[in-house]
Amino acid sequence: METLRAVLTRSEKQGVALGHFNVSDLVLLKAVLAAAGELGVPVLVGASEGERDFLGTRQLAALVKSLREESGVPIFLNADHTHSLTKAVDAVKAGFDAVVADFSALPFAENVSRTKEAVEALKTINPSVIVEGEIGDIGTGSEIHDTVREEFRNLTTPEEARQFVASTGVDVLAPAVGNMHGMLKSMVQGKAKKRLNIGRIAEIKKAAGVFLTLHGGSGTDDTDFRNAIAAGINIIHINTELRVAWRQSLEDSLKRKPNEVVPYKILPPVIDSVKQAAASRLALFTTQATKTAIPLAAS
Ligand code: G3H
Ligand code: ZN
Repeated sequence: METLRAVLTRSEKQGVALGHFNVSDLVLLKAVLAAAGELGVPVLVGASEGERDFLGTRQLAALVKSLREESGVPIFLNADHTHSLTKAVDAVKAGFDAVVADFSALPFAENVSRTKEAVEALKTINPSVIVEGEIGDIGTGSEIHDTVREEFRNLTTPEEARQFVASTGVDVLAPAVGNMHGMLKSMVQGKAKKRLNIGRIAEIKKAAGVFLTLHGGSGTDDTDFRNAIAAGINIIHINTELRVAWRQSLEDSLKRKPNEVVPYKILPPVIDSVKQAAASRLALFTTQATKTAIPLAAS
């Protein structure tokens, strides 16, 4: 099976992106795997520190390994938003393919030194592990928010991106380009969309020269996604959209069977609904954008 690095390199050449979906239980994991299997595309499964605490870092790694072997689907595992070196080391030792070393809440110089330390330590354990660093403030929490914070308007600059990558040695950079974690209620209702600064993505790509991840993908405009991929985004993270599908379909399933107590009779429609949510995003990310969709200037 191809390595994660090889998948990223090939996807970039093809003008498509790798979908990254967060999981916090087996229902979500099965749903994401089913979506990727149905579409015949590779997929990156992520678990943040909170999600790993709930699932178990080694247990999740064992589950993904066995699903990968049994299904043949190229499913990779990412330790998402990891704020301590100890937790990052645990994940790499457990067999994760990638780690997001997230020190973005710290001042820039400290973010650089902590990320550099993580890159060196993690690659000593597994030289082929993919390490991602993050700069800028896109908030935390794949949840439903009431308001958007002003800080999200501060975008990563190409110079910050260049300096950060050169000083840390990260394989992947996650910038702030109009994205934010979580969704507003209006986004859940489909009445508003997140919009990205495509021109800035292109400038950051040129300056950084590494793979780029777009965090906070839930609720983003479809055309912006396509243009972002054409401008240099390689990995797209989706979490809240799956959580919304999970909750709504769980409530529906429980309502439809008020007296049912058997989990494997209640949960299949939930898997199906989350699978559909993941599949629609994966289909978008893995369809090559036409040249005309690429903007010539910053939007
Ligand atoms: O790391 C996870 C994500 O960036 C997901 O963000 O909940 O807005 O899709 P989202
Ligand atoms: Zn994220």
